[in-house]
Amino acid sequence: MKTLIFNGSPRKDGDTVSLLNELLKHIKGEYKIIDTYYSNIKPCIDCRYCWEEDGCCQEDEWKEVDTYIRECENIVIASPIYFSELTGQLLSSVSKIQAYWSARFFRKKEIISKPKKGGIILIGGGDGHMSTPIDTATDILYHMNAHNVAPAVCSHDTNNK
Ligand SMILES: Cc1cc2nc3c(=O)[nH]c(=O)nc-3n(C[C@H](O)[C@H](O)[C@H](O)COP(=O)(O)O)c2cc1C
Repeated sequence: MKTLIFNGSPRKDGDTVSLLNELLKHIKGEYKIIDTYYSNIKPCIDCRYCWEEDGCCQEDEWKEVDTYIRECENIVIASPIYFSELTGQLLSSVSKIQAYWSARFFRKKEIISKPKKGGIILIGGGDGHMSTPIDTATDILYHMNAHNVAPAVCSHDTNNK
């Protein structure tokens, strides 16, 4: 069993990482963590290459991530919330999944044929709300063929030391 984890936090010993470390104690099989702040994944620039062709015209680490998405059984999105949303860097990295949408919409092709289970972990200081990042993460998971998403795990009080 394979699990892919997107980490949207820049803090290497932060709250998201400490919850991820708890998760890792319970994961069966192998896993791959994408540290979106430290990966070489360029954002989608809407060049529309993927309207006609498979994949992305930009050469970066997304190729490996794409391979793992095709193979894995589980995908987890873990992020701090910034301004009541997933972090910009996480959104920037996963914007590459636009290629899956383009294949489905323009070329009637399913790129990610294997269904996955999805998970969402969100961390916040205590301001605002979690509903927007939960909706966004659910949408991102949906586009990676993870329609079966567990209730989000949220810690929304990290301003209290
Ligand atoms: C730019 C920025 C925006 C933030 N916006 C919110 C917010 O809207 N709501 C909230 O509860 N916390 C907000 N926070 C606090 C972080 O979510 C909080 O510090 C979190 O614990 C960081 O997680 P990490 O340690 O895993 O990076 C924000 C922090 C930063 C740096």
